[in-house]
Amino acid sequence: MKVFETINELQSHLDALRESGKTIGFVPTMGALHDGHIQLVKTCVSQNDVTVVSIFVNPIQFNNPEDLAKCPRTVEPDSEKLESAGCSVLFTPSEKEMYPEPDTTVMEFGGLEKVMEGRFRPGHFRGVGVVVKKLFEIVKPHRAYFGEKDFQQLAIIQYMVRKLEIPVEIIPCATIREADGLAMSSRNMRLTAEQRTAAPGIYAALINARENYSWFIPSGLEKLVMTEIEQNHELKVEYATVANAVTLQPFEDWMDVEHAVLCVAVFAGKVRLIDNIRLY
Ligand code: PAJ
Repeated sequence: MKVFETINELQSHLDALRESGKTIGFVPTMGALHDGHIQLVKTCVSQNDVTVVSIFVNPIQFNNPEDLAKCPRTVEPDSEKLESAGCSVLFTPSEKEMYPEPDTTVMEFGGLEKVMEGRFRPGHFRGVGVVVKKLFEIVKPHRAYFGEKDFQQLAIIQYMVRKLEIPVEIIPCATIREADGLAMSSRNMRLTAEQRTAAPGIYAALINARENYSWFIPSGLEKLVMTEIEQNHELKVEYATVANAVTLQPFEDWMDVEHAVLCVAVFAGKVRLIDNIRLY
């Protein structure tokens, strides 16, 4: 596995590969890699000649400075995991390399960024959009891999790629979970033993909602999920939202939308966890 810290060196390496007809797959990450990330990398390796992974903790997507400070930085074990998953190129730029000047790019995503995460984390998706667009311009991948764990992020990236006509195929990858259902996340290691025991209740409530949604109206289902998760006093729901899986907008009647998703953000103490499930 080759490691690059500068855009120039990475680009000359990738330009040569691209010119010789190799397909390039790309997995952007912020590091602290777990099996969820590694599954994206393995899928990428199986579908492309070259797999590029970036590790960059993107400061402009953190609306909460405490979250940025607590974001684990574990480059050594990360490189080992990537190497054994078959990653060929690792890109670890510095903040100066990615943002030589303060970033002022304006981004909008047709309203997709206004709901759910966007409501509670103002500016977050602008930061994600800016960095992913920059990374796409640097790597110029044929395909890029994103997890459904971050459902809204995936929808926003798909929108950005369509709108800006970026020539990359976005490949969604299923959420990878612990054996007890908890969605894998680097934040899980910040949970106390009690919180960790409570956390699988989130996915259990989502599964129950998928099985029984048709008995409720969307807002009723949201209330049910919230009550069910909060039965455990370690957990506090920030939002439980039923949305159109394409537009992410709320709706009132199941008959009106072809695909629906249920997304939640839940606090276990100070640790904020997100998860989602497709209802139909
Ligand atoms: P990060 O949180 O490191 O996630 C990198 C990729 O891994 C994202 O596409 C995310 O959806 C996926 N992922 C995380 N946990 C997963 C799980 N349990 N199952 C499946 N996929 C999972 O998301 C980001 O970084 C950043 O916003 C980024 C896109 C890199 C831009 O900075």
